[in-house]
Amino acid sequence: MDERKIKEIEDRHFAPVYERLPIVIVKGQGATLWDVNGKEYIDCMGGYGVAIVGHCNKKVIDAINEQSRRLIICHGSLYNDVRANLLEKMAKISPKGLDDVYLSNSGAEAVECALKLARRYSGKPEVIAMTRGYHGKTLGALSATWSQKYRSPFLPLLSDVKFTPFGDAEKVREAITEKTGAIIVEPIQGESGIYVAPDGFLKELREICDEKNIVLIFDEIQTGFGRTGKMWACEHWNVMPDVMCLAKGIAGGLPLGATLAKKEIMSSFKTGDHTSTFGGNPLSCAAACATIDYIIGENLVERANNLGSIFKEKLESIKKDHRIVRDVRGLGLMLGMELRFDIKNILMNGIEKGLIMLYSGKNILRFLPPLVISEEQIHKATDILESLVSEDEKSRIEVRSQE
Ligand SMILES: Cc1ncc(COP(=O)(O)O)c(C=O)c1O
Repeated sequence: MDERKIKEIEDRHFAPVYERLPIVIVKGQGATLWDVNGKEYIDCMGGYGVAIVGHCNKKVIDAINEQSRRLIICHGSLYNDVRANLLEKMAKISPKGLDDVYLSNSGAEAVECALKLARRYSGKPEVIAMTRGYHGKTLGALSATWSQKYRSPFLPLLSDVKFTPFGDAEKVREAITEKTGAIIVEPIQGESGIYVAPDGFLKELREICDEKNIVLIFDEIQTGFGRTGKMWACEHWNVMPDVMCLAKGIAGGLPLGATLAKKEIMSSFKTGDHTSTFGGNPLSCAAACATIDYIIGENLVERANNLGSIFKEKLESIKKDHRIVRDVRGLGLMLGMELRFDIKNILMNGIEKGLIMLYSGKNILRFLPPLVISEEQIHKATDILESLVSEDEKSRIEVRSQE
């Protein structure tokens, strides 16, 4: 099928819910993608942060191939060897004490589970979430998501969620009532534009939760598995949650979500409380085992830290030379560049030049490349970006001088 035909069919039948970029991607390898015409791109979108171990990672492919010949589905009501293997691996790498795991199929589901679990454990319905926070678009997760654009068409949502400013522990304290059962927070806010928790904030949340017997939920769906240069972003501040949500890169690209919790919390769930037909299916579990082995075996966490510094330094130097860049933020290979203007042209011209980036809102570029991206690709990507920013700045100056 050619490009025109593929676009025509998708435009006709695909639910119109995605902001689309005008390319048809058909192949991937590592941090490189190819479109239907054979054009090559450096992938700094990384499947929205999913492709941690790279596209079509050989170890993941082998695990999927092998498992697909043995067993693809095995409901959670039956025991399974690969699932057991994954649970053991997760318990080894999870923050201390968080070794009970509920397996689902997506980030939003991991959050749904966390919200229900906190309510079941605490018996208290209120949740405190953060301004600019993003936790997914199912009704429960959406209730804890800040953006009015996503929320307003679907009101009323869960009425027991209050929002307090990200980074302000005092405001959290003020919002707590005797009905508050959970606080949910991303250690680094991703979708809203890469906002890193200010030092001390997560620690204060931990103290508040300990003091008031509230469940602290960290949503590490975007930050987990080495993305930020630590296995879990919360390690940057040495603060551990009671419940942690994971998804995205966990299974090398196959759908899988996980909600990790302390035993005393997870055991408040009773049989039938929360289940999922596909959750913990052997195929995704096999892919996740291979993914975790690869992350550890290839030192991807350290790699994200080292390459992230190189990437960020380049972004900082672009900022230094161009006034239209307002800010550069992030840790490891989770980076953002905020501009003073709409980034649409930069995004589209990037595609022309073989660079795929992500946006966060109108004026923030986001970079979530596979952690296997090469140093050379980072230099190439940032050189392209530099030329895009220069061109954009120049055209704005020209327009202003003509006005
Ligand atoms: C922090 C965070 N939580 C939850 C989600 C929702 O995940 P999913 O799209 O898999 O439902 C995302 C997705 O971007 C996310 O970044």
